[in-house]
Amino acid sequence: MREILAKLEAKRAAARLGGGQKRIDAQHAKGKLTARERIDVLLDEDSFEEWDMFVEHRCTDFDMVKNKIPGDGVVIGFGTVNGRMVFVYSQDFTVFGGSLSEAHAEKICKIMDQAIKVGAPVIGLNDSGGARIQEGVASLGGYAEVFQRNVLASGVVPQISLIMGPCAGGAVYSPAMTDFIFMVKDSSYMFVTGPDVVKTVTHETVTAEELGGAVTHNTKSGVADLGFENDMEALLQLRRFIDFLPASNREPPPERPTDDPADRVEDSLDTLIPDTANKPYDMRELILKVADEGDFFEIQPDFARNIVIGFGRMNGHTVGFVANQPLVLAGCLDIDSSRKAARFVRFCDCFDVPIVTFVDVPGFLPGTSQEFGGIIKHGAKLLYAYAEATVPKVTVITRKAYGGAYDVMSSKHLRGDVNYAWPTAEIAVMGPKGAVEIIFRGDIGDADKIEKRTEEYREKFANPFVAGARGYIDDVILPRNTRRRVCRALAMLRDKRLENPWKKHDNIPL
Ligand code: HXC
Repeated sequence: MREILAKLEAKRAAARLGGGQKRIDAQHAKGKLTARERIDVLLDEDSFEEWDMFVEHRCTDFDMVKNKIPGDGVVIGFGTVNGRMVFVYSQDFTVFGGSLSEAHAEKICKIMDQAIKVGAPVIGLNDSGGARIQEGVASLGGYAEVFQRNVLASGVVPQISLIMGPCAGGAVYSPAMTDFIFMVKDSSYMFVTGPDVVKTVTHETVTAEELGGAVTHNTKSGVADLGFENDMEALLQLRRFIDFLPASNREPPPERPTDDPADRVEDSLDTLIPDTANKPYDMRELILKVADEGDFFEIQPDFARNIVIGFGRMNGHTVGFVANQPLVLAGCLDIDSSRKAARFVRFCDCFDVPIVTFVDVPGFLPGTSQEFGGIIKHGAKLLYAYAEATVPKVTVITRKAYGGAYDVMSSKHLRGDVNYAWPTAEIAVMGPKGAVEIIFRGDIGDADKIEKRTEEYREKFANPFVAGARGYIDDVILPRNTRRRVCRALAMLRDKRLENPWKKHDNIPL
């Protein structure tokens, strides 16, 4: 018996060594952790239960029979993050460059299937040279099996991808279909075709980092949601992130008791809005001052910065914050900000996370680049997302809510449950200056007259009371009471039930 046990231990040790010490050293030399070290950082101590450690590839071409490494380039299993169950796969670059074989894909599919059954998030730690070249079409089939599960799991369990090395070609489409993509700076990249192909086809010269590194995808393309300095930071922040998320669409988001009083008054908010209407202020300050303990996990902070999205808690319960940011493009909605916020609103709605919206929006960004880029379709995404959402929706208009953007930003008309305005709110078709220049076009040469008309318009419409008179907002609240009022609204909405008419699925303007 002892011999058998020793044999088992030797087999396990061989599997743990992956592609061998030399390749592990090479991985470390690049500043990267190994697949197993990553799992150790991500999960609670001793909580990881590994599956399929002895799985091997079945490829017989290219002498591969002689080249089998147990585990076949991916470590899978389940464990806990702060006591809550998650399923993980972690690609091992030391084994055939983490490339995906048929057996490797089967392992990933196994934990995805299990995660859907039990209702727990799937976390993918990606570090792979793509399709296992020696396996050909079997590998492509394996990818498609993973893609299919990504789609079936979407909206059932949260799926998070951490890109910690190469992720290229069709392989990018699995992370692309997950809910969130985090990347590590300087050691990860994602692209459909790499720099060499780009050079051949378009004659552009770019590095892998420029083409698809963490900075590119967090600032230019919006493909990624966050970028981190190194593996360690990415994994630790992922642990913090998981704490905000529900395990599945069958469970409410987790509750974290807080010492921060729900009725905390924040006097400084009374002076957040500057005296001049066109002067910007930082909307993040409002979020930080109302969220429990100022704890805000921002998503896509460096992309479409004219809208701020992310998770926080109100009286211990996870909420999704969506807020126009007057500091950037005066808080206008444009193509990127609409796409960014729409996807976030839809995530919240899938997983029963209430949405708190702070509004200061002068309208949609004008211009040919926006129109040619399809702002009509892209802007409609956010409108659609808010309109279909059945989760509790609480909205606070702090200053401008003009035109169509007023409607879009979780207005009463899109089934906003509780809609508040600060006394500084201006809810109107457009700003006073623009309005007067249109209605009183004939007076444009007469500066005094125009000024008088503008003042008249401001007096009449640039306030929250016209909307208040129609019940479009439920109350005008003091800025300092925002946390208290939003917490109270969310408590009232805790057992909200609302269903959309039956349909196979909707047809959001993609
Ligand atoms: C098999 C692979 C591999 C692959 C890397 N390796 N990629 N083995 N299939 N796809 C092996 C290497 O042979 C090497 O083995 C080890 O992994 C490490 O690779 P290196 O090249 O030494 O590492 P590095 O210099 O860091 O370069 C990493 C890399 C490069 C940029 C990923 O390996 C590379 O370009 N690989 C090929 C990428 C590719 O073309 N993949 C297929 C794309 S098509 P040894 O034994 O020397 O350690 C695709 C389609 C998916 O993925 C479609 C889905 C629908």
